[in-house]
Amino acid sequence: MINYAQPLRLHQPHRFEFGAGTAAQLGDWARSSGFARILVLTSPSVAALVNRLELPGQITVFAAVQPEPDTTNLSAAIAAAQAVDPDLIVGFGGGSVMDVAKLVTVLRGGVPLADVIGPNKVTGRLNALALVPTTAGTGSEAGIRALVTDATTLNKVAVESPYLLADMVALDPDLTMSVPPAVTAATGIDAMAHCVEAFTNRKAHPLIDNYARMGFSLVARYLPRAVADGTDAEARAALLLASYYGGICLGPVNTAAGHALAYPLGTRLKLPHGLANAVIFPHVLAFNLPVTPAKTAEVATALGLRADDQAALLETASQWCRNLGVEMRLSALGATQADLPAWASEAHAIRRLMDNNPREMSVDEVLAIYTAAF
Ligand SMILES: NC(=O)c1ccc[n+]([C@@H]2O[C@H](COP(=O)([O-])OP(=O)(O)OC[C@H]3O[C@@H](n4cnc5c(N)ncnc54)[C@H](O)[C@@H]3O)[C@@H](O)[C@H]2O)c1
Ligand SMILES: [Fe+2]
Repeated sequence: MINYAQPLRLHQPHRFEFGAGTAAQLGDWARSSGFARILVLTSPSVAALVNRLELPGQITVFAAVQPEPDTTNLSAAIAAAQAVDPDLIVGFGGGSVMDVAKLVTVLRGGVPLADVIGPNKVTGRLNALALVPTTAGTGSEAGIRALVTDATTLNKVAVESPYLLADMVALDPDLTMSVPPAVTAATGIDAMAHCVEAFTNRKAHPLIDNYARMGFSLVARYLPRAVADGTDAEARAALLLASYYGGICLGPVNTAAGHALAYPLGTRLKLPHGLANAVIFPHVLAFNLPVTPAKTAEVATALGLRADDQAALLETASQWCRNLGVEMRLSALGATQADLPAWASEAHAIRRLMDNNPREMSVDEVLAIYTAAF
């Protein structure tokens, strides 16, 4: 039964621009806010587009943020910020870049990362923060969480705090036109997974459910188009919205078993976050069907899948991903069967996400999913 009286806390960026060309609004905003020393964190793939932000003042560009960044990469970005002492940090890139920008903002004063892991450990920050996504996937720009891989343990750690919230977000679909088809597919499925995992979540909330519905419906309709033609402006815009909706879902509800099972594939097998989630998505969708039949049927209808039983759902959802060109077999992605038991224990231990799953999943059931995906 839906409980409309369930309490909810939602953090949203202070200013939000959406639309083609709105990257330039960042410059206007920075000028009127009086920012004089600006540090832009970005990656080589999009560094050439930084001028679209039309930023004023003294600008330093750190273009060395890596995909799926680890703590070594984070330390380099922190050192750059300590040298510049910026009044504004801009994260201009995919989720990897935006998460680093968030973490640099709260760590450059010298606080060790270990002191702020988990929810609400951050106590302040020294600069304003603007986030401009160039992929449509993580929705990191919408929220108060940031992830980084611990270079020693290879675990992904999450920091969650209102201090990670952006003062300004610009969603400019023109910036995502250059994302290659494979990355478009994987990041788009990540956005959908955020929506679906929040929708079928133990902590699901009616307000978030409606963002989730909009998100997975947009991905269902527009992701095949954006993969087929990266310059499809309508599809790119729709996916950026879907990604943002997914980001809203992550805040108060978050993901569940799908993302937990994807994490070892990212940190151990080194799959990009979106691809790891794509491989796992059909399996967890089908696993949860018996306990969330009505909501799973809504997802299936949006995607044109068969939800009459788990086997049909698994097959049609996997085919939906394969149609986007995604390689869905772990064996073809470099895994060996011997890897799977350790990954299963590791994923099972990510209780912050596993405890959100609507159906209890044992270590053996995690292993069975990895084996089926193999
Ligand atoms: N904070 C959150 O709430 C949240 C949620 C989900 C995922 N994440 C994190 O986000 C990271 C993944 O982010 P992602 O999926 O956006 O991938 P990404 O940022 O790693 O980008 C993927 C690749 O695409 C390139 N790229 C980015 N924009 C491009 C463009 N416009 N044209 C061409 N190439 C471009 C990047 O350089 C990179 O090589 C992971 O570390 C993951 O853990 C965070
Ligand atoms: Fe994700």
